[in-house]
Amino acid sequence: MDLLRQTVKQALQSDGKNEAKRGEHPREEAADADRLRHDAKTQQSRNGDKRESLENLESPCTEMGKLKKHRPDYQRRDTGHEQHVCDATRSWPTTVIGDASGFDILDRVMQQRFEFMKTRMVRVLNTLLLCSLAVAQGLAQEHREQAMMPTVLITGSNRGIGLEFARQYAALGWHVIATCRTPDRADDLQQIAAKYPNLTIEKLDITDHAAIDTMAKSYSHLAIDILLNNAALLGARNKQALGNLDYELFRRILDVNTVGTIKVTEAFTPHVIASRQKKIITLGSAAGSIQMIHPPPDFYAYRASKAALHLLMKNVSLALAEQGVLVGLINPGLVDTRGLSAIGPDDPVPEDFKQIVRLIRSGALELTSPEEAVGRMIDLIQNLSAEQSGTFLNADGEPLPW
Ligand SMILES: NC(=O)c1ccc[n+]([C@@H]2O[C@H](COP(=O)([O-])OP(=O)(O)OC[C@H]3O[C@@H](n4cnc5c(N)ncnc54)[C@H](OP(=O)(O)O)[C@@H]3O)[C@@H](O)[C@H]2O)c1
Repeated sequence: MDLLRQTVKQALQSDGKNEAKRGEHPREEAADADRLRHDAKTQQSRNGDKRESLENLESPCTEMGKLKKHRPDYQRRDTGHEQHVCDATRSWPTTVIGDASGFDILDRVMQQRFEFMKTRMVRVLNTLLLCSLAVAQGLAQEHREQAMMPTVLITGSNRGIGLEFARQYAALGWHVIATCRTPDRADDLQQIAAKYPNLTIEKLDITDHAAIDTMAKSYSHLAIDILLNNAALLGARNKQALGNLDYELFRRILDVNTVGTIKVTEAFTPHVIASRQKKIITLGSAAGSIQMIHPPPDFYAYRASKAALHLLMKNVSLALAEQGVLVGLINPGLVDTRGLSAIGPDDPVPEDFKQIVRLIRSGALELTSPEEAVGRMIDLIQNLSAEQSGTFLNADGEPLPW
């Protein structure tokens, strides 16, 4: 503001000096005035077009042009004397008409300033508008991408095969709803969730039917491309042999593996039907195949629960075929979800797995790693055909007998 005042003062002083000079030499002044009038006319006619075009430019000249439009008396007073006054608030010079009074100049400077501020404001607003448009477009794009991402819901995803499915689908960019009984203690799953924002952890015990219904309702807006029935209970081996059957455990195993799995399937079928991929995938087991059973018979409850589950999934495939739902029933093979291959010769071996560890050590049995088994199953699920729906498949895609 000080600079502005100084600039105006200088302009007034220099104007005053000219006035004084003119008063000292009246004849020269008259001649000067004639010459200047002539110059001004020629200049005016020469610059007529130029002024017009200057007025259209986004510059102080435009502001001057506008000023002249608003105050036609400036045009009248314009003698052709033009001085360049540097407005302290800007980096370019502005044109001031020679014989205007101090107030006029101040008025004009203020007008110019106002116009300048207006232009600047318009620019800032334009920039803000463009920025908000860009942000809005970005958000819309993100929303579109999210909407394009297929969704998988996995049961029992805090450990073993379920955990690996969650990890791999999350890494593939899927929207993963990873369910488990106790999220607070699911450290491995929490770590994956921290790495992949596209993974959501949900608490779900598949024997809790009310909780299943509540969750299905809370996700009623969401299409689920793959429902992955993974959760299961194996139970202790020694409590599942003839002569020592634990019926409480028996019921629990059936409750989880058979009843719980069909309940989840029933509750989320509408979500699957609403999706693009429309797949219900269930992990069965060769242990549930009557044709593949070998002595000595063990895991009575677990085998029975899986055999019943296989039959249920066959029914589901028939029931939903018309709606285009593919039902995959997969035996993952022997997958080392308990770290049995890593047990050293001096390490204690869990009672239930002594036989398997013996076979592994003898080289008669090789377990697959969860990474490899899940990678294979994801390929199979991805390419699952209508012909394979409702059949019992090995993880490598080979059909297995019931
Ligand atoms: N591993 C194999 O060699 C093999 C072979 C053939 C078939 N399968 C099948 O593959 C699937 C996964 O096997 P896995 O070896 O990864 O099993 P796992 O290591 O024993 O894990 C079982 C998962 O199921 C969950 N679960 C148990 N009861 C549940 C309930 N009531 N509600 C919700 N979740 C429950 C467990 O959660 P908690 O931690 O809370 O108990 C755990 O996350 C199972 O269906 C199994 O039958 C595995």
